[in-house]
Amino acid sequence: DKINAFQATLLTWYDQEGRATLPWRRDREPYHIWVSEIMLQQTQVQTVIPYFERFMATFPTIADLAAAPEQLLLKTWEGLGYYSRVRNMQKAAQQIIDDYAGIWPDNMQDLQKLSGIGPYTAAAIASIAFNEPVPAIDGNAFRVFARLFKIDADIAQPKTRKIFFELGQKIIDKKRPGDFNQAIMDLGSSYMSAKNYDSEHSPVKAFNAAYLDGTEEFYPVKTKAPKPK
Ligand code: ADE
Repeated sequence: DKINAFQATLLTWYDQEGRATLPWRRDREPYHIWVSEIMLQQTQVQTVIPYFERFMATFPTIADLAAAPEQLLLKTWEGLGYYSRVRNMQKAAQQIIDDYAGIWPDNMQDLQKLSGIGPYTAAAIASIAFNEPVPAIDGNAFRVFARLFKIDADIAQPKTRKIFFELGQKIIDKKRPGDFNQAIMDLGSSYMSAKNYDSEHSPVKAFNAAYLDGTEEFYPVKTKAPKPK
């Protein structure tokens, strides 16, 4: 059916042209995936690469991170900013070592109990490291899914995340959920990027409903964030 055809087209493209050389794609260690996802939250891929390599050279295991002296921790993060990210990472590392006997929770729900791990990061780790078929919904996924399926829900509304998550669960490749999520990320930073999208040459052009009827620029729908009551 159409979902199978979409998965096959997306993953074939990912296998041939995805960013396979990114250092956090060398293996599926949850520690590696996690550190990369936290760094990538507020920092561009090209900037993250050398930081990721230095971080892993300095703290090769999660036990090293849990036990790191604060000065060394902050020094290794210097230049990335948003230091609460690395402080929360150390807390989560200590949780895993002390409360989980060093063993990572292997699913999205339990991962969210760790310090600094929200639904996006939990889904990224669960899918890439543990093959759980959960979609990782960040700004890229909002844009890509909204255009492919012409989703009119307002992404500024917190409740909209559920609509995209449920759609993502329907279309994610159950055999390769981590690769599926990372293929959506790669699509969202290339042919379906926010500013310089090029749907005409996109590998999933035939599945892009908004492109096919010329309405791409209207997706994703985003109003101003509603005032809190
Ligand atoms: N942005 C967020 N997560 C990413 C990943 N795993 N690979 C590339 N870009 C990303």
